[in-house]
Amino acid sequence: MTRLLSDLELILRQPGDDVRRVYERAAPRYAHFREAWLKVAGAGGEQAMQHYLGEILAPGQRVLDAGAGTGAISRRVLALEPGVQMTLLDLTPAMLAQAADVPGEKVEGSVLDLPFADETFDVVVSGWVIETVPDPRQAVAEYLRVITPAGYVLYTFCSLPDGWLSRAGSVLLRAAVGQGFAGKFLPDEDIPWHDCERSRRARFHGGLATFILLRKCCPVGAGVLPVAMDRVPPTPLGAANRGGSG
Ligand SMILES: C[S@@+](CC[C@H](N)C(=O)[O-])C[C@H]1O[C@@H](n2cnc3c(N)ncnc32)[C@H](O)[C@@H]1O
Repeated sequence: MTRLLSDLELILRQPGDDVRRVYERAAPRYAHFREAWLKVAGAGGEQAMQHYLGEILAPGQRVLDAGAGTGAISRRVLALEPGVQMTLLDLTPAMLAQAADVPGEKVEGSVLDLPFADETFDVVVSGWVIETVPDPRQAVAEYLRVITPAGYVLYTFCSLPDGWLSRAGSVLLRAAVGQGFAGKFLPDEDIPWHDCERSRRARFHGGLATFILLRKCCPVGAGVLPVAMDRVPPTPLGAANRGGSG
């Protein structure tokens, strides 16, 4: 009962809190909320990310977990390929502190202005982060900037379902995520995505969760978005997508 009350207190935080403060408060119990989110709507997006990471990861690659939080996605990456060099970046030190056991460099910083040179990483992963920042497109533009010409960007985020029934049915969930975790459910027109042969996009749970994979060639500037077509994993990336010059 005490835990339920403290969970409710966290979700019903005072409006006006900034994102860092929200996650400072959530950090000690974040893993529990994360599990709940995966059960309710997020699992498909993470499975899609894991599927493609299984195809992409190789020993020696430099991997950035952007908005790493408590390190859940980094742990997944290292379980798939222990030979990668991980960097975990987050705005909130209290979240990163929960990832102390994850091998890799920990960096405090913003996904909107990554403190890394162009083409520093082979892979950028980012789970449930871009919906918490004021400019999701800027975050993804930064992810693309820091990957090598042959690199990959993979991200999941909360998205707004298309149909009115799904929207009505998810009102409470969306309000709780918005209130407790500063997460907006992105409408199609705000989703950074580029439709080409090398990109992938898949939506899950009636559209509440989206997974996207982009390559260096993919622009995310205005005029390219939105693109309506979905592709559902597992779709092999294929030989043409491995390596190459972007
Ligand atoms: C919903 S959590 C996701 C954490 C982790 N990626 C996961 O899958 O569990 C969102 C994370 O994004 C971080 N965050 C929010 N805005 C950020 C920004 N501008 N730059 C870096 N991290 C940010 C928060 O501190 C928090 O750790």
